[in-house]
Amino acid sequence: MTNHIIIKNKLSNFNKKIRVSADKSISIRSVLFASQAVGTSKISNLLESEDVLNSLKTIKKLGIDYSKVGGVYKIKGYGLNGFNIKNKTILNAGNSGTLARLILGLLVKSKTEVKLIGDKSLSKRDFSRVIKPLRQFGVNIKSKNSLLPLKILGTEFLRPIKYQENIGSAQVKSCIILSALNTPGITEINSKSSRNHTELFLKFLKYPIKVIKKSGYEKILVRGLKQFSSFEYEVPGDISSASFFIVLTLLSKNSKIIIKKVNVNKSRIGIISILNLMGAKIKLKRKMIYNGEEIADIHVKSIKNLSAVNCPPKLNSSAIDEFLIIFLVAAKARGISKFKDLGEMNKKESKRLNLAIKFLKLIGIKVVRIQNDINIYGNPDLILSKKFEMKNFLKDHRIFFLSCITALTLGGEWKINDRDSINTSFPNFLKTLRMIGAKIN
Ligand code: S3P
Repeated sequence: MTNHIIIKNKLSNFNKKIRVSADKSISIRSVLFASQAVGTSKISNLLESEDVLNSLKTIKKLGIDYSKVGGVYKIKGYGLNGFNIKNKTILNAGNSGTLARLILGLLVKSKTEVKLIGDKSLSKRDFSRVIKPLRQFGVNIKSKNSLLPLKILGTEFLRPIKYQENIGSAQVKSCIILSALNTPGITEINSKSSRNHTELFLKFLKYPIKVIKKSGYEKILVRGLKQFSSFEYEVPGDISSASFFIVLTLLSKNSKIIIKKVNVNKSRIGIISILNLMGAKIKLKRKMIYNGEEIADIHVKSIKNLSAVNCPPKLNSSAIDEFLIIFLVAAKARGISKFKDLGEMNKKESKRLNLAIKFLKLIGIKVVRIQNDINIYGNPDLILSKKFEMKNFLKDHRIFFLSCITALTLGGEWKINDRDSINTSFPNFLKTLRMIGAKIN
């Protein structure tokens, strides 16, 4: 099968209700927590994407069995540090930064050295951000230039740490929290705000974790060595996947969409705040708390007049995976949109800030970059008619999605390579687009 798609037609006049794929961050966490619980946990609507399947393979290599019965994953845990680790174990996190960083936190007591590897993209990503706190716990880590492959050897003599986390990375924060579970005493993290699924999951498990909110930061206190029981969990939809359909609807003529049962945790919905600042009237309806997380249906309508935004940097972390698609809206908005301090975008599956600027220039948009700040000169009349080919984006799933939405809303004739990148987070992406009416070859 060819690994590219062709899009030649714009989309308009749709009115649909859809579900997007399950949340990737929460799916990975649910698998990892089930591996540490006492007993058999049952997880439904688990995202069956490569990152999550690699999480399942990882716990299996560490001696945790699972099965799938009638759509529900059953995972049998033996409590904290209940892994059975064989000599010369090699774990492959594939493309997933979240899996790679979080699993290290569960290996801090391993008596056997474990090697962690990843794909081409993950092997370019920096691990110093987790190596530093892990070493402070007393864990032995070997790696060249803080890149994968990395070797971790745990210790019996873990000591609780006090850590100042200034990146605003949920992966770093979560790695420390998971390490703290196996560490006697109280670990304290003062963390720049970032998505809080790990903390909410632990609260759902009734684990002793305390979060004290300060402005832009959270002080998190975790008491180690408390066991928790197995659980039942249904994973909600992923706002990061929904974001492509939100923008598709906003920028398509005469269209409406309802995206059902999406996780709308405050630490994730920066995109909704930003797009509403630009004039979109996105509404969250049927809000409810489910297993500690807030979920809702997202209602979106197409809009003619979008205005530029001066994006408040305090929203950066809650929209970090969505800026690519937000930039497309800025490209169609009236005026100059300003975004600041987006260096973290270059630490993702690809150097997303660099690639986003290249992409905007490719579609004829003026962009001025000063260090990690960018100004996007919007053009409400922007329509594309040329031929475009997307390649060499390190199979970054979100760049693939961005290219598809651009083709469907602005036009042009697009050949988009690396179609299999969708399997990282949203295997049904193209199917969902076709369901709405998109013509994709
Ligand atoms: C994630 C956190 C974010 C995000 C990533 C998933 C998580 O990364 O970009 O896609 O599940 O914790 P950082 O924590 O590095 O910002």
